[in-house]
Amino acid sequence: MSRIVIFDSGVGGLSIYRAVQAKNPNFDYVFVSDNAAFPYGTKSESALIDRVTQVLERVAERYAPDILVVACNTASTVMLPILRERFDFEVVGVVPAIKPAAAISQSRRIGLLATPATIERDYTNNLIEEFANDCEVFRVGSSELVEISEQKMRGLAPEPITISTILEPFVSAADLDVLVLACTHFPLLKNEIDDFFKMKNMSVLLVDSSAGIANRVEQIGVGRKTKALAAIAVFTEEVDEPSLIEHITYLGFSEIEFLPI
Ligand code: DGL
Repeated sequence: MSRIVIFDSGVGGLSIYRAVQAKNPNFDYVFVSDNAAFPYGTKSESALIDRVTQVLERVAERYAPDILVVACNTASTVMLPILRERFDFEVVGVVPAIKPAAAISQSRRIGLLATPATIERDYTNNLIEEFANDCEVFRVGSSELVEISEQKMRGLAPEPITISTILEPFVSAADLDVLVLACTHFPLLKNEIDDFFKMKNMSVLLVDSSAGIANRVEQIGVGRKTKALAAIAVFTEEVDEPSLIEHITYLGFSEIEFLPI
């Protein structure tokens, strides 16, 4: 058996799950949402490290992953060395897709949309320094947009005016041609973000990390496929919203479990 655990604070990890599962269908999947401690993007680094370590120790004990995908930029940008030191299984992190964005930007003006924590991280600054030091990078950190993605997965349509207000700072970045969706919640709002830029007559390509992560998992997983396929969704706080449960079921999860921490 080969099991992949995909972990996030909330439903953002589902954007990574979709890409990873489509490319690597012959694995057992456990999707873990630490919804009891959501959101991560407003927590201090030390509070986040304590919480994520605690949750993942329980997850490792209960689900024994072969591969753990930390499907959260906010956690990955601060936790990867700690997790790799702590656990024996493969740990794949999801970090801002600055490198692919810089590779395709013609105008050398890139947007970075992330949580308030991720836009300020040393890890993020280092990525920019290493891969985009000839680009101007415009950063917007928003926890409200994370919450809007959560609501969308619960059947509540996002208000275009709210999305516009959050994205408005990118309009002053003339010639911006690539936007990095550096929070796994944001690909769930791709259509709404696209609509905003169309409305502003801006031609902006949206880039996220999901395809790269799916490829990375494929490389690691060669020869480790399973035959007994299962997909379980795990929450640290019980969910009772029917539309969220319906969505989770639609994505192929046959069981929903509760893991109190
Ligand atoms: N989805 C997460 C990320 O990629 C974090 C969202 C949050 O809990 O603030 O950063």
